[in-house]
Amino acid sequence: MNFPPGFLWGAATAAYQVEGAAQEGGRTPSIWDVFARIPGKVFSGDTGDTATDHYHRRHEDVALMAELGLGAYRFSVSWPRVQPTGRGPASRRGLDFYRALVDDLLAHGIQPMLTLYHWDLPQELETAGGWPERETAHRFADYAQLVAEALGDRVELWTTLNEPWCSAFLGYGSGVHAPGRTDELAALRAAHHLNLAHGLGAAALRAVLPDRARLSVALNPAAVRARTAAPEDVDAARRVDALATRIFTDPMLHGRYPDDLLADTAGITDWSFVYDGDPDTINHPLDALGINYYAPTVVSGTTDSRPSRADGHGGGERSPWPGADRVAFHQPPGKRTAMDWSVDPTGLYDLLIRFAREVPGLPLVVTENGAAYDDKPDGEGVVHDPDRIAYLHAHLDAVRRAIADGADVRGYFLWSLLDNFEWAYGYSKRFGAVYVDYATQARTPKSSARWYSQVVRSGQLPP
Ligand code: NOJ
Repeated sequence: MNFPPGFLWGAATAAYQVEGAAQEGGRTPSIWDVFARIPGKVFSGDTGDTATDHYHRRHEDVALMAELGLGAYRFSVSWPRVQPTGRGPASRRGLDFYRALVDDLLAHGIQPMLTLYHWDLPQELETAGGWPERETAHRFADYAQLVAEALGDRVELWTTLNEPWCSAFLGYGSGVHAPGRTDELAALRAAHHLNLAHGLGAAALRAVLPDRARLSVALNPAAVRARTAAPEDVDAARRVDALATRIFTDPMLHGRYPDDLLADTAGITDWSFVYDGDPDTINHPLDALGINYYAPTVVSGTTDSRPSRADGHGGGERSPWPGADRVAFHQPPGKRTAMDWSVDPTGLYDLLIRFAREVPGLPLVVTENGAAYDDKPDGEGVVHDPDRIAYLHAHLDAVRRAIADGADVRGYFLWSLLDNFEWAYGYSKRFGAVYVDYATQARTPKSSARWYSQVVRSGQLPP
């Protein structure tokens, strides 16, 4: 039940979900500040204005991580905090916050893993066209350079983008995420420009930090299963695999777009927004591939004009799957989390083995994994979350099995350190290993935090 020596044990968060201080230190609005204010977009009108107030409580939060024995902390930088207009010079005050955070982490022996983009595009860049416009990728590369210049002396682990699928297809396709646009073509253009941003950003990081930086991207590849072996179900799985996974991994890891993706979306676009040379730019050598995994995706082919949409991505009037209108999504039987996502660690195992085979020699990191449950403190203020412990145990066991079967997995980051702003679900879904009382901002480690702490300290999974 041992994990390899040097295995990175961490927890993850993202700027908009935890920081708060939305109007402090010169930070300007991001697309999420604007989107969250549109009535009906976020559960109960919640916003990230205060979130978990991590901006003011970072010291306490780092101390908590140290107490739990974490070896690494994955966080994201808020772009509008460090480059308020999305272009031009850096904000010293914005960078100071991250310098102080990183110094705190290092002082406690916790390795920082910095994500440049976890969905909070400066609103000014969205007003200029957002991710469907090529220019945004260039703006991202400049931003990457500026953060590398400021923090490259103390941060070694860099991640360009987090889950670009969500940015493109939930942000511009189904519109359940910011900026809330519903336009299939815009979503496909956004996917390409996010890919390009990744490639240009990775090159900018390497140019500033030729020796020290270890570069990665955090994707949410779909563990897709065809509901039956019928050819139409198998074809539905192929389509979703192209739209969810290969649309990012093929250019990033192999320098090409998949032919079947281009064919499936031919009714929407001829992809002429992909310039000669773009796939090579996107295919920048990486030091690790980050995989975020929560639940598998079960699909079937259908002739229904309104196919079922149990794809785990929050409904919405429009589908986030352009060119896949004959695909139905299903909820497999069995246990579910509070997100209504099924609990099935075999999806994580399968993805790790898939990428280990697809890109031999590229280390893998589980950059996110975890579960939301309806946690509540008991009469003594203790938060018991046995379901989360069971979820983590089963998924860590899948990681261990994948390693035993040859996958080079270097680390695991629990999502999330703290309960936080769960995007369109606001504060109604709790993913934290640490409970947050939003009225007082008091932090209470749940029993899963204690359990995880044991795993982290021992490097072993209990039987
Ligand atoms: C993936 C995202 O990266 C993160 O921001 C989100 O909170 C979790 N999944 C849970 O939905």
